[in-house]
Amino acid sequence: MTIRHFLTLQDLTSEEFQQLIDRATELKTWQKEGRIFEPLKNKVLGMIFEKSSTRTRVSFEAGMIQFGGNAIFLSPQHSQVGRGEEIADTARVLSGMVDGIMIRTFEHENVEKFAEYSSIPVINGLTDTYHPCQLLADMQAYQEHRGSIKGRTVTYIGDGNNMCHSYINAAMLLDFNLNIASPRGYLPDADIIGKAGDRVKVFASAKEASEGVDLVVTDVWASMGQEEEAQERAKTFAPFQVNSELMALTNKEALFMHCLPAHRGEEVTAEVIDSEQSVVWDEAGNRLHAQKALLEFLMA
Ligand code: CP
Ligand code: NVA
Repeated sequence: MTIRHFLTLQDLTSEEFQQLIDRATELKTWQKEGRIFEPLKNKVLGMIFEKSSTRTRVSFEAGMIQFGGNAIFLSPQHSQVGRGEEIADTARVLSGMVDGIMIRTFEHENVEKFAEYSSIPVINGLTDTYHPCQLLADMQAYQEHRGSIKGRTVTYIGDGNNMCHSYINAAMLLDFNLNIASPRGYLPDADIIGKAGDRVKVFASAKEASEGVDLVVTDVWASMGQEEEAQERAKTFAPFQVNSELMALTNKEALFMHCLPAHRGEEVTAEVIDSEQSVVWDEAGNRLHAQKALLEFLMA
């Protein structure tokens, strides 16, 4: 059997992406009913975190335990990963010990290299370029609140970062329109936008990008690894804050999402993130169910 990896959403077909969303909702219902379902009994997921995490770590770990398996957390400080052992060597060694690997790291090339040498499924738990697991949860949350996202218009406001790139990939696979509003110099990667065709539009103004849209998404202005740029970015990104004035321009049924952690008063006001339109808690909670669907798909 060929091994499947999940390094970007593009590792899935549109049908597979939709199936994972539907399965995630089903697994969520089963979990709420207290139904025991253990398709990964005795299986082990290794998790390498070179950056901090709350949601990703807990959702993968809880998901593996609920599925009858287990997860092992590896940090660079307490493993040879942080002492320069080659990625290819780590990949080959762990392939003989566990059944799947999740990696959160800096350069996207690191997960690609890991996958090249791995004989078990590799999951991208966030790189500087992509955050595909988050999009499984976001798309599940949208569908649960508003039905199919096909043909809808989403606005991503802020840094053209890993979240933005994964939204572009999702737009291609699930066939929705994506407006992106970013400050000059912080646009998403031109090659990634280029592949999406005319369903992705770039705006210089957050307001113009938000008129009549169905979902507004934002993310932190300074991602992990960009802490030193935070002050400068705060000035540049100020006109790209998601606030009530901006939300007033959207479709009145529009939702608000943020992958979290959020900074109230920076990329989003407390008024918006804590409003009725915001589905951030469902979005975060769905990390568990969406990734269980993914683990089952790759490892069961
Ligand atoms: N959204 C997300 O990936 O959160 P963590 O950094 O807490 O894992
Ligand atoms: N863009 C953020 C997402 C955190 C989940 C970061 O990379 O830090």
